[in-house]
Amino acid sequence: MSELRVAVIGVGKMGAFHVDSLAHRVRGARVTVVSDADADRASEVAAAVGARVETDPLAAVAADDVDAVVLASPGSAHEKQVLACLEAGRPVLCEKPLTMDEPSALAVVRAEAATGRRLVQVGFMRRFDPEYAALRELVVSGEIGEALMLHCVHRNPAVPDTFTSVFAMADSVVHEVDCTRFLLGEEITAVTALKPRATGSSPEGNADPMLVLFETGSGRLVDVESFVRTGVAYEVRTELVAERGQATIGLDQNLVLRSAGRWGGSIAPDFVVRFGQAYDTQMQAFVDAAAQGTVTGPGAWDGYAAVAVCAAGVEAVITGRRVEVRLGERP
Ligand code: NAI
Repeated sequence: MSELRVAVIGVGKMGAFHVDSLAHRVRGARVTVVSDADADRASEVAAAVGARVETDPLAAVAADDVDAVVLASPGSAHEKQVLACLEAGRPVLCEKPLTMDEPSALAVVRAEAATGRRLVQVGFMRRFDPEYAALRELVVSGEIGEALMLHCVHRNPAVPDTFTSVFAMADSVVHEVDCTRFLLGEEITAVTALKPRATGSSPEGNADPMLVLFETGSGRLVDVESFVRTGVAYEVRTELVAERGQATIGLDQNLVLRSAGRWGGSIAPDFVVRFGQAYDTQMQAFVDAAAQGTVTGPGAWDGYAAVAVCAAGVEAVITGRRVEVRLGERP
């Protein structure tokens, strides 16, 4: 079968990674079109993989030499671009967030349902990480009984001052939202955000760290430590507490070096190192399904639910109150 022809829209940090993945690490696809608001950036990335540049992202979606689309533009551009993909019948891997607010995300869910096909995959790559997949399998198997709680940790070494607690909720805690839904197989129904004493490197008035609590439909609790100025490294851990045991992922169990009177391993410096393999596996799954005219990974509903929970989370951060999540009707 001929290779899947992919347009990549938005080729900043994430989009350039996806272009490289499609060109060098994923089978069955090639990048034919690149589009970016920054024309120089588009030319540079396109030239490296022999693709052409299309200035207008919507023209890239509808182009004759495109079978599927990867969207890695800023979140504010996703709604229009993902709807254009649905209009053109193109399978699309859309980076999170699906859109910027609940009504527009639900509109995407409905627009996809109206096509009668699954066409939207949202870039929740942790589902493709072997450790998360193993934890999900453990939950489903029932081997250690019913899942009761999750303890999640999301730490970055450093971020710019613009990375506020509200931004952290929407940008990084969003992954814990999807992991909770993926691991436990149910919806999050309420969010609370607690703000303990802030680290000295946090801007005045900003909450960092933050302790976020999710409640789920069946009454499970999930706590998330979001701490983005640790000065250490990129650390993402999850502990599952079940009826007859616990399981932990994200322990950085790599090479342990003994030298100069010390021993120890290393911690991933950033998300590309920690989840690089997961991004590639996600892309391979997208390409394989898109070649059949569909998608199989986390879909529009998952993207919508994440947007809705994060909106509640942002309200919880701002007001200091417990905020309930009320999802629309699933088509
Ligand atoms: P970035 O700022 O590095 O890149 C965005 C690119 O999009 C820039 O080159 C910019 O010129 C271009 N752009 C701006 N407006 C555009 C438009 N209307 N149409 C086409 N291109 C446009 O941002 P980054 O970090 O690459 O993030 C991109 C997306 O990926 C965001 O939605 C972000 O949330 C998501 N992301 C997801 C991650 C994950 O773990 N799944 C990790 C990092 C980012």
